[in-house]
Amino acid sequence: MSNTIRLVEVGPRDGLQNEARPLSVEQRLELIQKLADSGLTEIEAGSFVSPNWVPQMANTDQVLAGLNLKDANHYPVLVPNQKGLDAAIQAGAKDIAVFGAASESFSQKNINCSIEESLNRFHPVAAQAKEAGIRVRGYVSCLVACPYEGPIQPAQVVPVVRALFEMGCHEVSLGDTIGRGTPKSIKAVLDILLTEFPVERLALHCHDTYGMALANIMAGLERGIRVFDSSVGGAGGCPYAPGASGNVATEDVVYLLEQEGFNTGVNLSTLVDTGRWLFDLLDKVPASRVNLAYSAG
Ligand code: HMG
Ligand code: MG
Repeated sequence: MSNTIRLVEVGPRDGLQNEARPLSVEQRLELIQKLADSGLTEIEAGSFVSPNWVPQMANTDQVLAGLNLKDANHYPVLVPNQKGLDAAIQAGAKDIAVFGAASESFSQKNINCSIEESLNRFHPVAAQAKEAGIRVRGYVSCLVACPYEGPIQPAQVVPVVRALFEMGCHEVSLGDTIGRGTPKSIKAVLDILLTEFPVERLALHCHDTYGMALANIMAGLERGIRVFDSSVGGAGGCPYAPGASGNVATEDVVYLLEQEGFNTGVNLSTLVDTGRWLFDLLDKVPASRVNLAYSAG
């Protein structure tokens, strides 16, 4: 099994979408550049969602305008509907992500429609994107728990993952949105998903609310997952998932995986500097333990 890990950096999107202090377009671009300089090749650049719902992600078109979209990196943007796709195409996006959920209540709170309605919306969006040569990623939130409904069963997750693959997503990222998962619950849902879907096409997206994210990543690794989402410094959270703290910190994931003998392609020291730079801007202390340890040492 491969020793190469693909990290999807979600800091400029998930990391910033919940921050009280929004960053300017220039600061968002500087962040993305620094992340790319550390060796990250897949960096979520923003969201084409309603600015009334998530003001922090306004002007994502200007962020894309400041990137070299022809370089070898991927800069996915979140797209919830046709309007978001039109804006993403207009801005020259080469990668989008549609985002669904395994929980009805979370779907309603986050994108104002049922799971079924969301999949019906995503279907033509994915088809049109593919026709335009745009790569489509899928997300499923509430992999094991929902902030409104509590525990979520694997049987609720499977049909959403299936629908995302059927509409042409190249990969589905499994979101532990509120960080309630533990290795046991993560392995339980993976074991069921892996009876139907190839492991190479699944990613894990762990929030670290309960401090379980690294343990859950180890559980994913054991099951063969090699793609992980993470956010520099451990920034992040969904404004429509009360109680969710940041994503697992990219620094912590890189440190863990490199020590375990995997290759992430990321320069940890450049990444630590980026995390410190970002958290200085946010006037906060990084949630990343590795970042704090490096800074102290
Ligand atoms: P809605 O209010 O039902 O939309 O929101 P609507 O179609 O009724 O339109 C209402 C207004 O919004 C209209 O404007 C539309 O033009 C506008 P008005 O005529 O009133 O001036 N509108 C838009 N504007 C810009 N871009 C668009 C767009 N669509 C409509 N794409 C909607 C539905 C989906 C738009 C809204 O609920 C929304 O934007 N939700 C986004 C929420 C979000 O971004 N959440 C965070 C990301 S998900 C996440 O963090 C989880 C993840 O990390 C994985 C995990 O951790 O589990 C991915
Ligand atoms: Mg998230």
